[in-house]
Amino acid sequence: MADIGSTSGRDPAFWALIPAAGIGRRMGSDRPKQYLTLGSRTILSHTLSIFLEHPRIRGVVLVLGPDIDPDALDLPLAGGRLFRAAGGAERVDSVQNGLEFLAERAHSDDWVLVHDAARPCLPLEDVDRLLRELRDDPVGGLLASPSSDTIKWSDGAGHVERTLDRERVWRALTPQMFRLGMLREANACARDAGHPVTDEASAIEFLGQAPRLIEGSAMNIKITRAEDLELARLYLMQQGRLEGRFSA
Ligand code: CTP
Ligand code: MG
Repeated sequence: MADIGSTSGRDPAFWALIPAAGIGRRMGSDRPKQYLTLGSRTILSHTLSIFLEHPRIRGVVLVLGPDIDPDALDLPLAGGRLFRAAGGAERVDSVQNGLEFLAERAHSDDWVLVHDAARPCLPLEDVDRLLRELRDDPVGGLLASPSSDTIKWSDGAGHVERTLDRERVWRALTPQMFRLGMLREANACARDAGHPVTDEASAIEFLGQAPRLIEGSAMNIKITRAEDLELARLYLMQQGRLEGRFSA
């Protein structure tokens, strides 16, 4: 029987790219924050599991700092689906190194989900929603959360210049999901132009494209400072992803 299900002959694959080469300056701990433990596993291991256990993710590129021995990490075994790339000076450099690694192995139309190692509380449903909502989108987009605070725009000298319309303010989360080829080009262009790239969407915006906002859970915090650890522990426990129990 002829295959009439696909006109392109090939469905784009989904890849995950996890930048984990930061030093965690704001956490101020004795090691980079992704190597701190929540329960019996490192934050990095919790984050990786989300993607390695997802049936739609073809492979995961983990971007690690230069002094890290991957064999010494408690990484979840992945049946050959986990790859390593080398970190760079800034997050955007680490992401670009991961994209270059992928470009050798993947198709430029494939999707890449870039997700911070420091966000282990990403709910599985949010990954599923992102894949579902964006899979036929020409550009891609990101998980984001509507702001519950009123946001002030400062004059740069300690005074309010104006108040932003709260209805239109969103906090950018990860994963951010774009086509490999477009993201690789966008990052390189923005970097060469000296444009600040703090997330993938800002590079895509630099190309003149409009990434889609997909509402995600506010539980998906980026562990940044020491006080975030307890909150992350609570969220993981609520999701049933942390062993342990509340004391009586
Ligand atoms: N990251 C990276 N390469 C860098 C800097 C950051 O891969 N040169 C990664 C971090 O490991 C983290 C994610 O990007 O998973 C988000 O960065 P952030 O939360 O800022 O982590 P750090 O840069 O490590 O923390 P800090 O800014 O406090 O030093
Ligand atoms: Mg940083």
